[in-house]
Amino acid sequence: MKQESCNLNDSGCKTTSKTDNLGEYWCAKYTDTDYTKSGWYEKESKPSLDLIAQCNLKKEATILNVGVGASTIIDSLLAKKYTNLIANDISSCALNTIKNRIGNLKNNVNWIVDDLTNPTALNNLPQLNLWHDRAVLHFFLDEKDQKTYFDLLHNKVKKGGFVLIAAFNLDGATSCSGLPVLRYNASLLEVKLGSEYSMLKAFDYEYKMPNGAIRNYVYTLFQRKIES
Ligand SMILES: C[S@@+](CC[C@H](N)C(=O)[O-])C[C@H]1O[C@@H](n2cnc3c(N)ncnc32)[C@H](O)[C@@H]1O
Repeated sequence: MKQESCNLNDSGCKTTSKTDNLGEYWCAKYTDTDYTKSGWYEKESKPSLDLIAQCNLKKEATILNVGVGASTIIDSLLAKKYTNLIANDISSCALNTIKNRIGNLKNNVNWIVDDLTNPTALNNLPQLNLWHDRAVLHFFLDEKDQKTYFDLLHNKVKKGGFVLIAAFNLDGATSCSGLPVLRYNASLLEVKLGSEYSMLKAFDYEYKMPNGAIRNYVYTLFQRKIES
């Protein structure tokens, strides 16, 4: 597992991973500017929370939030009394932003700094009831990275478990945060997940950025088939 070596007060905040400098790249996004002005910040993760409510998960369900950034979804899920939350990001700075915000509640979350395209600690996760990704998968342009992401997902999501993926839509932006993205629609995500998953919900969503501009997302909710 990569070590955390920075917090919001550090200057030149760095992760100690030797495998890539992507963590540092993202760290700067959370420390150089006000994260609440970032092009993906949501005061409340409403579309994700609405879909999660439809899963009817038990409060002790194991919920992995990949590339969670500084998202308030952790705050919201804690407020809803979910007791088994996992927050992953490649950037420890991102996770520290949440920790600083939620105070002692941070002790109720399992924090994992790890790279979804080269997982180490993530490989040791327990089986999951829900995999939640908003605005992360679309950064993985290489097929190898996508395969690693989906291999991890398949290894970790329980039969009967849920997969919630929100990504830039086909008519959405071609880059985010200075990085190119691969855009999706519901059918493309369905193909990516494969025949072991049933699509329960899919909708297009216009997200209003803090600067007022619109970014088009697609939200999808899948369930892993019991007989898979
Ligand atoms: C656009 S932000 C979205 C953050 C959050 N999901 C949200 O909706 O607010 C993308 C996030 O993915 C994280 N990320 C990028 N590449 C990653 C990787 N290979 N493994 C884990 N996290 C990654 C970034 O650090 C960043 O926090």
